[in-house]
Amino acid sequence: MCGIVGYIGKKEAYPILIEGLSALEYRGYDSAGIAMVDSTGLTIYKDKGKVDRLKEITRSIEKEKGAIGIAHTRWATHGAPSKVNSHPHTDDKERIALVHNGIIENYSILKDRLKEEGIEFRSETDTEVLAQLVGKYYENDLAAAVRRALADVEGTFGIAVVAKDQPEVIVAARRGSPLVVGVGDNELLLASDASAIVRHTKTVIYLKDNNLIELHRDGIYHTTTLENVQITPELHQLEYDAESLAKGGFEHFMLKEIFEQPQTIKNALRGRLLIAEGTARLDGLNIVHQELRSIERIIFVACGTSWHAALVGEYMIEDIAGIPVEVEYASEFRYRNPIIGPNTLVFVISQSGETADTLAALREASHKGATVLGICNAVGSSIARETHGGVYLHAGPEIGVASTKAFTSQLTVLSLLTLLLGRMRRISHSDGMTIANALQAIPSQVEQILKQNVKVKEIARIYHHHSNFLYLGRSYNFPVALEGALKLKEISYVHAEGYPAAEMKHGPIALIDKEMPSVVLAIKDSIYDKVISNIQEVKARGGSVIAIANEGDCEIEKHARHVIYIPKTIPILSPLLSVIPLQLLAYHIAAMRGCEIDQPRNLAKSVTVE
Ligand code: AGP
Repeated sequence: MCGIVGYIGKKEAYPILIEGLSALEYRGYDSAGIAMVDSTGLTIYKDKGKVDRLKEITRSIEKEKGAIGIAHTRWATHGAPSKVNSHPHTDDKERIALVHNGIIENYSILKDRLKEEGIEFRSETDTEVLAQLVGKYYENDLAAAVRRALADVEGTFGIAVVAKDQPEVIVAARRGSPLVVGVGDNELLLASDASAIVRHTKTVIYLKDNNLIELHRDGIYHTTTLENVQITPELHQLEYDAESLAKGGFEHFMLKEIFEQPQTIKNALRGRLLIAEGTARLDGLNIVHQELRSIERIIFVACGTSWHAALVGEYMIEDIAGIPVEVEYASEFRYRNPIIGPNTLVFVISQSGETADTLAALREASHKGATVLGICNAVGSSIARETHGGVYLHAGPEIGVASTKAFTSQLTVLSLLTLLLGRMRRISHSDGMTIANALQAIPSQVEQILKQNVKVKEIARIYHHHSNFLYLGRSYNFPVALEGALKLKEISYVHAEGYPAAEMKHGPIALIDKEMPSVVLAIKDSIYDKVISNIQEVKARGGSVIAIANEGDCEIEKHARHVIYIPKTIPILSPLLSVIPLQLLAYHIAAMRGCEIDQPRNLAKSVTVE
């Protein structure tokens, strides 16, 4: 959601902070601000709008303002986007400046208490309460003041704080909101996401929950718990470099990421697919085969697109491995009283590894004694660190807010998991080989589909003015219908509903007229004929149909107005192919409607608040 950047070293802080903020804009972007400290004091610039607006208002400032600073891009939670609500926030004496990700849940009580003490507030934010508290406790020891302030607050935070009279230190702390420290050559960087600092260093510390770090000049840092117990943090190396954060000639990150999928699927398969044995290996699960064999139930927990991937996982695992699977929204699971038996395995699925609801669900499942495994993309993320084991996607950074390559990588990992579990329980060597060979072929089949980009664009041109779309699919392609509809809504702001095709007649069929196109996943599988009947039902009511069908299907053109053909694969893997045209369709419709594809309104890439 919001983004934090900090710098302390020998270079000028300003360009590093601005560049870092630009890299983080995909996380949240309704306002931006910067605070720099030098021997002459504290300077703050902030305003509503994107980082470009911040650049505009800082154009005339003296850039050599100092070698220490903190900066922030905001995604509003408490208080509308405005200059006064933007971060950094200060205490009323303007001695300290603070940027914050997360939510201070008891801010209202604390605010009333501070007001009674005569402290004046300027903004409507929860963050200002924290800034005022730090200011109240500040007596020349910034870390001590931050510690005392954090003892008063409930909620989540990733914070960075500077003091006007201490141009030698940044204090950062976290609970529930990620912070990563970049360890450079006599310099230290701080960010809520490593993409903001990877240009400067690949050596990082992932700050743990309830830890505080003091960053000093000359690259010296000091880490403690919030109770001031000293700790030695682990150093990690980032797996990607700055190039992977560039658009690489594509107009948008989303399009680049759609086109990366043949490669990212290969990355997810690498070293894990054992073709000759007709099975898979997933060493990161950290579970012995004996334990895997005794599993009686699996629960997948996720949000958004990751939840759609989980739904495909449910179909696959029940079908091939015969293990009962449940799929839960993390936001529901965390507040229910879920029943987790002794042989239940919980998987949390998250691209970012930082989604607040998924993280909370993980903790709830752990409290209940479950073994919780993760399927994550972001290496070193909170979810990756807190799970007992798991599988990385290795898809590289996903910048476009609309998840594309992470979805197909999640499906790939879930297919590998299915193959592994299936071979342990139900399926023969030859059935295992059929799945393994089909998986191996997926990257080149995705490549073939991507060659139809121009055709998909033509279809988008015909329909981009429409305001409502229905996405229909059955079996393995029902979750794909949900995902196609989500892609369209989030980047083009067009209303779209995903439905199991046969459920249409229980309600949504009432919506169908010539203004409401239906995108139908008509894949040749055991229920193809039923899907054709569903298409007829749409047509009979004047609706036009865009079908996703298999190459060689001569029947479909009689029924659908437009057909996008995809190569044939085995049914369990068909979502890996059928989703590609839907990603492209959403992309082109959004582009033709002039939408901000990589940064859609109201959305943030990583939802680190409830
Ligand atoms: C996907 O296009 C969305 N932007 C969103 O639904 C996302 O999948 C969801 O917020 C979960 O994110 P995660 O995978 O990082 O946990």
